[in-house]
Amino acid sequence: MADNIFLKHAGVKYPIICGPMYPCSNPELVAAVSDAGALGVIQPVALTYVHGYEFSAGIDYIRSLTDRPVGMNLLIEKNSKKYHQKMQHWMAVALEKNIRFFITSLGKPDWVVEMAHEVGAYVYHDVTEGRWAEKAIDVGVDGLIAVNNRAGGHAGNYTVDELVVLLRRYDLPLVCAGGVGCRDKYIEAMQAGYQAVQMGTRFIASNECSAHLSYKQAIINAHEADIVLSERITGIPVSVINSAYIKKMGLKPNALERWMLDHPRLKYFMRTVMALKALRSFKISLLDKTGKNDYWQAGKSVETIHALLSVGEIIEALTEENAHNTHQA
Ligand SMILES: Cc1cc2nc3c(=O)[nH]c(=O)nc-3n(C[C@H](O)[C@H](O)[C@H](O)COP(=O)(O)O)c2cc1C
Repeated sequence: MADNIFLKHAGVKYPIICGPMYPCSNPELVAAVSDAGALGVIQPVALTYVHGYEFSAGIDYIRSLTDRPVGMNLLIEKNSKKYHQKMQHWMAVALEKNIRFFITSLGKPDWVVEMAHEVGAYVYHDVTEGRWAEKAIDVGVDGLIAVNNRAGGHAGNYTVDELVVLLRRYDLPLVCAGGVGCRDKYIEAMQAGYQAVQMGTRFIASNECSAHLSYKQAIINAHEADIVLSERITGIPVSVINSAYIKKMGLKPNALERWMLDHPRLKYFMRTVMALKALRSFKISLLDKTGKNDYWQAGKSVETIHALLSVGEIIEALTEENAHNTHQA
């Protein structure tokens, strides 16, 4: 671990990130992960729109729960000018509050890198293949989050092993995102050549995540075969549990949505409409107690998740040789 660049960049003890999750990244979860020696990451839309904090006050609240480093996520796909300005504002506030590690997803992270590097902060960019990595490297990112085909959220196309082969030529720290829910998978990823892992699904089934118990139980009950990719949610495939709700809705866009998604000029508008609808649906299903809106994002790591644990227990089970057998985690 002595030469692990990720640990230096993030300023943490363990090479583990609790990935940003809309809507699941409640401030208590972010703080608990950092407090346990890994890296909790703020998802600003979840912090404000779902969990109801004014952005700056939300960071202060997290800071009141832990003094360890936390990171922040920026979904930087260009859609509206207003959204872009909001992201820039959030980034400026985060830097003022001494956040020094950023994870960017979807767009071109040039302006994030510029703002971060001015104060010695680091930017890691989500990539699913070489061409996205090259675009991010061109603008100077410090590391790559390699999103594989087992990930929760927007999954990639390649396996854990294929991605490390594709991306190691760029000579940047690589973080394995997807499929890690237990110690065996963590060790496999580190031995494959990754410098850290980014986990989402495992942390939803934790005491500190404020998701409804029915969501956590669905993760614990689910098997790999229950995870499907739905294009009906944001227009690009998202990993979800194949619940009754998802089965009823179907996995593919309807004919009108498909036409608009394929249209060169209308596709961004359509993706924005679908994303806004998804923001609302995910928020409802996170807080819903009836179980009627079981719109649950999760990755194939569900296969290795068998119990509701505290964040501390999850991190201990991953990092301590004799802590647990892997099925506990
Ligand atoms: C419910 C959920 C929401 C997510 N939301 C985001 C997000 O807002 N931004 C992002 O960069 N990644 C997001 N992700 C991806 C995670 O940060 C992480 O990379 C992924 O969960 C790793 O795969 P795993 O779930 O198998 O551990 C999300 C994942 C899940 C499960």
